[in-house]
Amino acid sequence: MSINFKELAKKYDTPYYVYDFDYISEKYTELKTAFKARKSLIAYAVKANSNLSVIKHLANLGAGADCVSIGEVKRALKVGIAPYKIIFSGVGKIDSEIRQALELGILMINVESDAELNRVELIARELNLVARISIRVNPNIDPQTHPYISTGLHENKFGVDIDTAKRMYIQCKNSEHLEPTGIHLHIGSQLTQLEPIKESVKIVADLVRNLAAIKIELSFFDVGGGLGIIYDDEKLIDTNEYAQSILECLFGLDITVVCEPGRFIVGNAGTFVTKVLYEKVNGNKRFVIVDGAMNDLIRPSLYNAYHKIEVLNENKDISDCNLVGPVCESGDFFAKNIQLPKTEHNDIVAIYSAGAYCFTMASNYNTRGRVAEIAFENQEDRLIRRRETFENIISLEEEFIK
Ligand SMILES: Cc1ncc(COP(=O)(O)O)c(C=O)c1O
Repeated sequence: MSINFKELAKKYDTPYYVYDFDYISEKYTELKTAFKARKSLIAYAVKANSNLSVIKHLANLGAGADCVSIGEVKRALKVGIAPYKIIFSGVGKIDSEIRQALELGILMINVESDAELNRVELIARELNLVARISIRVNPNIDPQTHPYISTGLHENKFGVDIDTAKRMYIQCKNSEHLEPTGIHLHIGSQLTQLEPIKESVKIVADLVRNLAAIKIELSFFDVGGGLGIIYDDEKLIDTNEYAQSILECLFGLDITVVCEPGRFIVGNAGTFVTKVLYEKVNGNKRFVIVDGAMNDLIRPSLYNAYHKIEVLNENKDISDCNLVGPVCESGDFFAKNIQLPKTEHNDIVAIYSAGAYCFTMASNYNTRGRVAEIAFENQEDRLIRRRETFENIISLEEEFIK
């Protein structure tokens, strides 16, 4: 990637996120091509990066959207993704969200409990509509990833077990307001092992065959997202092997494959760029303090996640330090005990692999405005989200001051 972070810092100030849209295209195409032997829908997991221009870029490539709130559904529709390519997932949908999703006529609702299925049925009846249903099956397989992003075990809150799923499909079949349409699994994020995915898909494919035997024919097999990316030195799942092993499990089934990648598409397209404010030493401990903070990029604080970090200066005097932000929390750090060169005020620091679950998790903590987002495409940059101002931050409170 040939993005000049220093030039962009002059033009847009720091901190900022920049996303390489050409890289996003490459990753989308890589996955879509891997599934070319079948009908497939790549439903981009909007939660990873929900900037409208990012979703629009993927919409132009033909992507659908996997959404976890009605807000995300509306984002997808706003940029022109057709309702028949939109899926609504999530473990706790609110009544008003279910109602709107049904009225908007999206492809299917991924239901995660029998209580939720009853709720969807009730609302569909009130609206006199038929709800297209996909049930999220929890295959009870350990995805071997970070516990916070593991979802495929019964101890996780997601999905239902096989027997419950079967009962729920029978309920759908017997209801005038429910249509069994798809089946769904998603065992975790940042997956680097193929075996747990294969095992899970096999279990769920067997259920699809059992259902077909009782005349419940599903049209979509949603394998979820979760493909990992390189943050450090991870060994990745080969995309073609991934697709191939899924297709093998589905042998003999006439079913469209749905895949919901988030991180895989946008994770390594993004860089968070911040600048050095100060250096200080407390006892023996060196700190480099930058203008970005945990409210902008929380993954290191939240998951102890690793991001590759580079100081863009020529200094060869390298030593151990913590790279921290200005927020009033000891948890406000990007890296601890990292080797970085001596820095000067205004030196630029690039924090890589910041395209997924970074800006979307940003907050206004410490009354800090969320930062600017920039697209880089065909060697050109453009602003895709303005930096928030103080006025933006207080706008929903101001009128209530007594
Ligand atoms: C249901 C579902 N689908 C897709 C995704 C996207 O995951 P990833 O970004 O790891 O591809 C998630 C993420 O947690 C999810 O919960």
